Amino acid sequence: MKRILVVDDDPLIRQLCRDILKGLGLEIADTGNPLEAINLWSSSPFDLMITDIKMPVMSGLELMAKIKEKTPDAAFVVITGHGDYSLAVEAIKLGVYDFINKPFRREDLEMTVRDVMYKLELLNEINRLKMFTRLHMASNEIMHTFDINTAVRFGLENALKETRASEGIVYLYDGDSGKFNKLYSIPEDLELPDTLLKKAIESDVPIIEDGSVTAAIGSLKRTLGVLGVRYINERSGSADPEVVAVISRILGMTIDNILLFKDLKRKVQEVEDLLLNIIKVLSNALDAKSPWTKGHSERVCSYSLMIAEEMGLDREAKRILEMAALLHDIGKIGMYDYILNKPDKLLPQEFEIVKLHPLKGAEILRPISHLQEVIKVISHHHEHYDGSGYPDGLRGESIPLLSRILQVADAFDAMTSERPYRKIPGINRAIEELKSCSGRQFDPSTVEAFIRALNRKRNYMDMRTFQAV
Ligand SMILES: [Fe+2]
Ligand SMILES: [Fe+2]
Repeated sequence: MKRILVVDDDPLIRQLCRDILKGLGLEIADTGNPLEAINLWSSSPFDLMITDIKMPVMSGLELMAKIKEKTPDAAFVVITGHGDYSLAVEAIKLGVYDFINKPFRREDLEMTVRDVMYKLELLNEINRLKMFTRLHMASNEIMHTFDINTAVRFGLENALKETRASEGIVYLYDGDSGKFNKLYSIPEDLELPDTLLKKAIESDVPIIEDGSVTAAIGSLKRTLGVLGVRYINERSGSADPEVVAVISRILGMTIDNILLFKDLKRKVQEVEDLLLNIIKVLSNALDAKSPWTKGHSERVCSYSLMIAEEMGLDREAKRILEMAALLHDIGKIGMYDYILNKPDKLLPQEFEIVKLHPLKGAEILRPISHLQEVIKVISHHHEHYDGSGYPDGLRGESIPLLSRILQVADAFDAMTSERPYRKIPGINRAIEELKSCSGRQFDPSTVEAFIRALNRKRNYMDMRTFQAV
C-alpha cells in the first residue's frame, strides 16, 4: 500500500486529507510539526509528502529541502494558500509534483493525488527498466570474466549499487562438507549467520530477514554459494529482492562457466602432457637408431626453446616448437640404418634419400590432428634462408619462423656433436660457422638471438656441447 505523509499545522486540513485519501486505499500519516515529519520520514520514507508552506518552526520549503537531503527522489505536493504564489517557484525547484490551492474540494485533492501516484508509478517503471538495462550491461561484464574473484567482486558491487544497500557479502558453498566460505564482503568483517545461509540455498526465492536479502548463487546443475546484501539502519530489508536474485543467477552462471573452463583446460593439459610424453618416447626411439644421433632431438629442443625465449615468443609458439624439435627428424625412422650409421660422408644418391625425411616426417604425423602446426614446422626445417634448401626452396621470411629457429638449433647440435668422419669441432667453431652462414643458410636475426642466449648461458649451463669446448 502506498504511504502518504500530510504535514499541515491546521488540524482541520489534516483531518480533511485523511478522510479523502483513505478512500483511495492509501496509508496516511499526518503531523502538524515539520520536525516530527522529518523524524517520521527518517524512520521509514513515504511515497509522497503533502505539505503546507507556511508553518511555525519550519516552512514547507525548508522541510522539503531537508527531506531531499535524505531522499533525493522524494515526491511532494504543496498546499498553497493565498499569497504563497511567489514561494511556489522555489517549491518547483525542489521537485514538487503538483500544487493544491486552499480552499480545495474533495475532487481537487483526489485528482491531484491520483495523478501524482500515476506519475510515480510510471517513473518507478522507467527506473526499473533503466536498472535492468544497467544489470544487463553489468551481466555482460561479469560473464566475460575468467576469474571467480573478479566476477564476485564485480557482482557484489553492482548488487550494492542497485539495491542501495550498505553492506554485502558473497559466500561459496562446498557441497561435500556443507560449509560456507566467505569470498568477498563489504565491509571486510561482515558475516551472515549459517542458519540464514542454509535457508538461502534451500529456497528458490530470496530470503528477506533481519534487514538483509540473501539469495542462492547457482546454476541449473548445482548450488555454488550465497549473495547477501544488508542495511545498517533505515529501510531495513527493502532491497528489491528481484535484483539480488538476478545478480545471484548471473554470478551462478559465470562461476559455473569458469569452473567448467578450468576443468576443460586441465583435461586439455592432461592430453597435451600425454602427447608430449609419447612424442619424447618416439624421438628417443628414433635417436637411439644410431649412436651418432643419441640425444640429438632433445638437445635441438632445448636450443630451440632458448632461441624462442630470447626472441620473446609466446607460450603457444613455444609449445609447437618443442614438439616440432622433438619430432623434426621422425621421417628418418624408416630410413636404412646403414645410411644413418655410415662412417663416411654420404654419396649423392644417399643424400637424396636423407633429403626426403622432412616430408616423410610430415606424412607420418599427418593423421594426428593436434600436430598440424607442428607438421608445418617440421616440413621446412631444412629450408635455407637464401632459398637453396629443401624440400620447397623457400627463402627468407616465407620460411616459417619456427622452422628457421629449428634449422639453427639443428645445425648447431650437428656441429657440436661427434661424427664418425670427424672430431667435435667445438662450440666456438660452431658459433663462427653460424655467423658465416648467417643470411645464406640461416636467418640472421635467429642466429643473433641464439648467440646472445648462448653467451648468457654458457657459464652455467650443463650442456654436453659446452663440455666439449
Ligand atoms: Fe633433419
Ligand atoms: Fe636433426
